[in-house]
Amino acid sequence: MSDPSEPPAFPSTAAALLPDGAMEGRVVVVTGGGTGLGLEISRGFAALGASVIVPSRSPENQAAFLEEARARGWKAAGYQLDVRESAEVRRFAEWVASEHGPADVLVNNAAGNFVCPAERMSANAWRAVLGIVLDGTFYCSKEFGKQMLASGGGAICNIIATYAWTGMAGVTHSASAKAGVLAMSKSLAIEWAGRGVRVNCVAPGPFESDGAKQNLWPSEEVEERIRSSVPMGRFAGREEVAAQVLWLCSDASRYVTGADITIDGGLSLGSGKMWEPGERFTRKRERSDT
Ligand code: HXC
Ligand code: NAP
Repeated sequence: MSDPSEPPAFPSTAAALLPDGAMEGRVVVVTGGGTGLGLEISRGFAALGASVIVPSRSPENQAAFLEEARARGWKAAGYQLDVRESAEVRRFAEWVASEHGPADVLVNNAAGNFVCPAERMSANAWRAVLGIVLDGTFYCSKEFGKQMLASGGGAICNIIATYAWTGMAGVTHSASAKAGVLAMSKSLAIEWAGRGVRVNCVAPGPFESDGAKQNLWPSEEVEERIRSSVPMGRFAGREEVAAQVLWLCSDASRYVTGADITIDGGLSLGSGKMWEPGERFTRKRERSDT
């Protein structure tokens, strides 16, 4: 039994969950798939034999994955894309179909976020986050969903956050967008269930990434405060979250749709800690049978 207080290393619980070659011949699109969690998801799919395409705004953010793919003999491609632009997304989906074939799997992982009190949030700030998270997820789901419907099926996995249903002070834009993605996922899951396209969500608690560090916990002190609020006492490993995504998009989950899987070390349960373990306030009753 591995120690749950230690995050696992690559390689790779994500890929090891599934048999070798489980994704051979599949075309997989991971938005923002060159950094953070997206990078781990891309590596997992590629290690299982898929062709993995990682669209994002900046080619520099795709370089590490493309370099690793070259070195390991994985099938991979980058593409410069802003998911907020519906026409760009449509052109990108056409390019994927013509260069790689219709997509079998889409992971909507790209996101933008920063901490800002609601009363000081400009309309542009609100739109920036809603545009990436809510609009971008819909544009990609629509274009790649059409390909999946036409080719007989596929799987979409949307990365949300547990504050989609708990709410979270300081990130009203992101929480609202993720809540929208959750409702979108369930709606599409129902709409496409009879035509072979599954739509699920994974809701991670906090994990380390450059984007999160820069925008959400810029100091060690804030990071430590957030970390210590997690009942398991640590952040998620990106690997651990990626493993859930791979599993949901694989044939092992072919009957799973409209689900949202929380992987947050217990954080969204609230503290649930009114008493210390073992604490007792009533006198132990004498029992004749002990
Ligand atoms: C207040 C801000 C701001 C901040 C940007 N804005 N940062 N307002 N506080 N810290 C405002 C700007 O002033 C501007 O409004 C508007 O937002 C758009 O800003 P741009 O810089 O033009 O935006 P853009 O280039 O489109 O960049 C998008 C971004 C940026 C979302 C602002 O943060 C980004 O690219 N993020 C990607 C990486 C990331 O965020 N990763 C974290 C994922 S973690 P005005 O009015 O001035 O024009 C996550 C879940 C964590 O999502 C869950 C933890 C449990
Ligand atoms: P990250 O490394 O900052 O990743 C964000 C990615 O999205 C980047 O690769 C970025 O690439 C891409 N992106 C941003 N805006 C884009 C746009 N307009 N068009 C296309 N791509 C865009 O963040 P992360 O922490 O790994 O987050 C990954 C996912 O997990 C997100 O959905 C996030 O909300 C979720 N999540 C994170 C945490 C956490 O603690 N980190 C917790 C819960 C949920 P470019 O800059 O090149 O565009």
